[in-house]
Amino acid sequence: MINSFNEISILKPDDWHLHLRDGKILKGVVSYTANVFSRAIIMPNLDPPITTLNSAKEYKKRIIQAIPKGASFTPLMTAYLTDDMSPEVLERGFKEGIFYGAKLYPVNVTTNSSYGVTDLNKIDNLFETMERIGMPLLIHGEVSDLDVDVFDREAVFIERHLEPLLRRFSSLRVVLEHITTIDAIDFVENSKSNIAATITPHHLHINRNAMFLGGLRSDFYCLPTAKREIHRIALRKAATSGKACFFLGTDSAPHTRKFKESSCGCAGIFNAPFALESYLKVFEEENALSRFEAFASINGANFYGLPLNIEKISLVKKDIFVPKSINVGLEGDPNDSVKPFHSGEILGWSIAAN
Ligand code: DOR
Ligand code: ZN
Repeated sequence: MINSFNEISILKPDDWHLHLRDGKILKGVVSYTANVFSRAIIMPNLDPPITTLNSAKEYKKRIIQAIPKGASFTPLMTAYLTDDMSPEVLERGFKEGIFYGAKLYPVNVTTNSSYGVTDLNKIDNLFETMERIGMPLLIHGEVSDLDVDVFDREAVFIERHLEPLLRRFSSLRVVLEHITTIDAIDFVENSKSNIAATITPHHLHINRNAMFLGGLRSDFYCLPTAKREIHRIALRKAATSGKACFFLGTDSAPHTRKFKESSCGCAGIFNAPFALESYLKVFEEENALSRFEAFASINGANFYGLPLNIEKISLVKKDIFVPKSINVGLEGDPNDSVKPFHSGEILGWSIAAN
């Protein structure tokens, strides 16, 4: 509900795509999500990845231990698909509420994906099970073939792999994660209601030029990479359209300075600290404040078949300064801080104190 031009109040949002990492950094990053969002789909790309019921349960416990006191936040765990994952583990995990979905990383496509799937045809037994039990398949939709241009990898994945997969398993429930192209938008919009997509804040704000502005800027490097401006404009239209097939998934992916400022910098943008404010700026600019709640708090829960949150959250029109860097509790070494998305900028909306 928009109470006035200066305030918006919505059901508490959920983040349908989040990297929390593990160990010390987990404690340093989880509060940014847990203080604002009610639930989040937790990515399983640890090293080693989350492939068993036990490792998912243990990781969930570590996340819960790291949540600040007073926050009510539920991590929704996912399984990492490998060539030899057993269908029984997926089925049991889903039916027992341990896994809310399974993540498909084509092998070597991104951070910690070397355990990923080498050929989609090899795991038809898993797709069959997931289709039968209604378990969501969350897809990093890019090919990793080195002969495919990095900016074409999403479009090529859709044509070469996703369309054939859905011809074989037409009722599979699929979330195409962090979409970046008009090709992906068209694909999702023209599919049945079993296909949806998450959209990140960074892909709504930056195009591929951001990575090269005055020098090589690894802080804007993520996968899939941002694309041309026409794609960014189309993503903003899709996200703010109110359509049920598009919902919030930050893909917040923290990497410390050491790993960003390297001759081979890691892919990932840490947007969790100001994610909601960042999305809201886009909705305001697109004159779509009345559709913000659907994107942030309703469409995702409906797709996953989960109840809507009951609590509310308000944002007020008040400037907020985004710090240049954030210490995530790693011994205070400046090389071990993380740069948040919008670092050093002022955003025009702030979360209202309860
Ligand atoms: O930019 C990204 N970072 N994309 C991914 O797919 C993985 C993520 C990470 O884990 O760092
Ligand atoms: Zn991700």
